[in-house]
Amino acid sequence: MSGLGEIGPPFFPFRRVLLVGFMGSGKSTLGTRLAQLLGWAFRDFDEEIQSGVGLSIPDIFRQHGEEFFRSWEDRVGTELLQMGEVVLASGGGWPAKKGRMESLDQTTVSVWLQVSPEVALERARRQGATRPLLEVREPLERAEDLIRKREPFYRQAHITIDSCTAGPDELAQRIHDLIYEKGEDNLRSLPPYK
Ligand code: S3P
Repeated sequence: MSGLGEIGPPFFPFRRVLLVGFMGSGKSTLGTRLAQLLGWAFRDFDEEIQSGVGLSIPDIFRQHGEEFFRSWEDRVGTELLQMGEVVLASGGGWPAKKGRMESLDQTTVSVWLQVSPEVALERARRQGATRPLLEVREPLERAEDLIRKREPFYRQAHITIDSCTAGPDELAQRIHDLIYEKGEDNLRSLPPYK
């Protein structure tokens, strides 16, 4: 990529990448590949919550309810966002709270992985009953409604990528390159957050 040679990793201004987007947008798969490309660690909010609570996400919702899950998500998010050299996959609901995206500091580059409700549902179905919020009688309506409400939050990310336009390897490479471009912009001191 042009520019990498002149700028290079020592001047890279970001310490972490945060992936946001609806369920099924590919945050975990892409995040793992992107972390490999950057030579960084990968951490997933939901994985941390599951190991902290000692239950799967569906069991957490079933046994303790959504509010309990959200308080764990809040705590885990705050902890993981202190880490450096890490790619983070947030849960689909994490950004959808006033002030969350604005709270990200300037060393965090955020990426919104867009997905249509239909593709999100198809991918979620293939993974079994892992998304309690979509285990309803009308999952498509639920997905459409949640995406519509959450889009204004997701939209605040620095980079937007349609997750349906290529496979995970290519998308990870695209995001990697865009992050480096953002890094160069940042060095020319563009305001990073809206
Ligand atoms: C949720 C998304 C899930 C998980 C939980 C709630 C949401 O994560 O955190 O089921 O509110 O959209 P993924 O986006 O990784 O599926």
